[in-house]
Amino acid sequence: MSKDLRLFISQIMSRPHEVVALAPSSDGLCQEMVAGLDPAKGPVIELGAGTGNITRAILGRGIAPEMLHSVEMNPMFCTHLCDAFPRVNVHQMSACDLDDLGLKNVQAVISGLPLLSMPIAVQRDILRGSFNSLAPEGSFVQFTYGPNPSVHSDLRKELTLSWTRSDKIWRNLPPARVYRFTRPVH
Ligand SMILES: C[S@@+](CC[C@H](N)C(=O)[O-])C[C@H]1O[C@@H](n2cnc3c(N)ncnc32)[C@H](O)[C@@H]1O
Repeated sequence: MSKDLRLFISQIMSRPHEVVALAPSSDGLCQEMVAGLDPAKGPVIELGAGTGNITRAILGRGIAPEMLHSVEMNPMFCTHLCDAFPRVNVHQMSACDLDDLGLKNVQAVISGLPLLSMPIAVQRDILRGSFNSLAPEGSFVQFTYGPNPSVHSDLRKELTLSWTRSDKIWRNLPPARVYRFTRPVH
């Protein structure tokens, strides 16, 4: 078993309500999460980076490590991320406090958070902080294992979100879909 997988499993056991996953995201899911990222289009924020599978895929799209801000609240995961990706901006903090980073014109927020398992007030803080940071045409990208869109329906209405949905990614445990949410550009 790899060192990354051992760390992931140890954190599922010690912090199940924060990790909320059976395994790290598969290559297929990671590739769908990062599709469309463009090194010329500005910074990227990643939420809930864990052991860094999606981080690696973001960098694989040619995004410069200095342009990537990876947010993770778990200190063990943050230490691992800093070792594995020394030039990425790793922020040990809650995704609820994104406004504190003061980032603007972000091309995409790529979220590995267990968003739908969070209270709606927490989801609202995360979504508002994300859209405050995003460029007008930027997108909030979130996977889900369930049948419904990966942002609560009240928030989709409140924030006037539109979305697209990927095909089901069967090679993931469990199978998942990726949603891309955007807001109307005025
Ligand atoms: C489902 S795991 C995803 C890990 C990794 N991105 C992947 O896809 O394999 C969820 C991650 O979100 C982190 N997390 C949960 N709540 C958070 C919060 N409020 N702020 C920042 N990170 C959070 C957990 O510590 C965990 O690393």
